[in-house]
Amino acid sequence: MKKLVLATNNQHKASEIGEFLSSSKLRILSLQDFPELRMPEEDCSTFTGNAIKKAETVSAYTGLPAMADDSGLEVDFLGGRPGVRSARYAGEGSSDKENNELLLKELKGIPPEKRGARFKCVIAIVIPGTAAKTVEGQCRGRIAEAPKGDGGFGYDPLFIYKPSGLTFAQITTIEKSKVSHRGIALRKACNLLSKIL
Ligand code: IMP
Repeated sequence: MKKLVLATNNQHKASEIGEFLSSSKLRILSLQDFPELRMPEEDCSTFTGNAIKKAETVSAYTGLPAMADDSGLEVDFLGGRPGVRSARYAGEGSSDKENNELLLKELKGIPPEKRGARFKCVIAIVIPGTAAKTVEGQCRGRIAEAPKGDGGFGYDPLFIYKPSGLTFAQITTIEKSKVSHRGIALRKACNLLSKIL
């Protein structure tokens, strides 16, 4: 059975991705299988740069095919911020709650029609000895004026998916993955994996 290492320490993402690949014929390994491996700084200015950097690091260390994602929220009114800094928007080590509070503060008084945003996800796949390949998914929505819902992670309680009018924290993981940036990118990645692995 062919192996694929998921290059993420984020348990929410690992389980979303793991569920997606559960019907594939791949044996999925995670970073927990390689406790000595140190992941690089996510210091690139693009999601693509960071995703490739993570997948290349893991593939070089393990000698196995590796898949990494980099994702985040781009808010129109903020010129695309928080973008690649989404996880540490309110500072290094900031919590989801602190990041959401800062976002609400920055958008205070901004009317609904100017609160447009998109989630973006880039997935990089590296097979030893070959150049990285990437796929991308995007999902547009609007930033709520207050958090709603208990599900999901990160900015989910503030991200209203327009067609439903609900935030990503008010829908199930399965419903989210049908329309989300990561779901779209993962479907493309599965398709690509079936051709190259
Ligand atoms: P990464 O781990 O560097 O890709 O950071 C991604 C960050 O973007 C997360 O920590 C969240 O703050 C945010 N993010 C990415 N995808 C999602 C999502 O599906 N829901 C909510 N927040 C997300």
